[in-house]
Amino acid sequence: MHDDIDQIQRIFIKELELYFGSDEKRIRHAKKVLHYARELLSKEQADPYVVIPAAILHDVGIKAAEEKYHSSAGTYQEQEGPAIAGRILLDKDYDDENIYEICAIIAHHHTPGPQETINFKVLCDADWLVNLADEMDTTDIPALKIAIDKIFLTETGKKMAKEIFLP
Ligand SMILES: [Fe+2]
Repeated sequence: MHDDIDQIQRIFIKELELYFGSDEKRIRHAKKVLHYARELLSKEQADPYVVIPAAILHDVGIKAAEEKYHSSAGTYQEQEGPAIAGRILLDKDYDDENIYEICAIIAHHHTPGPQETINFKVLCDADWLVNLADEMDTTDIPALKIAIDKIFLTETGKKMAKEIFLP
């Protein structure tokens, strides 16, 4: 698949909508993460051909996790997500090397290691920009400052988080 990135985005959003069907909450979440990923991509030297499909498909494992384990726990999502995302990407003839990297990101996107690629960092930061308000009390400013410095992996992500969450 050699389409331009906007075309690729449209294709995989359509696939995401087909996959989640009436589960609009998941679709909305992915679109928000995609929005932040694109903003991060304008400042960080990451690969949009990896980051954009990863942002759209990063949580596809949640449906299988809920069906199989009646749980949306991160570990089940990480376990189930890569095979589903991989199938969607393969089906569209996406580049093998990119599929491999996207699936590797999805497989541990809640559990970053000490050495991650910039593509991973951008996806992770975009997800946290959406999730932070659900995960912690955003009125506790000192705790929030510490959390932002710890959680966000790129300078742009930290800056955006401060602009969004700090008064
Ligand atoms: Fe997510």
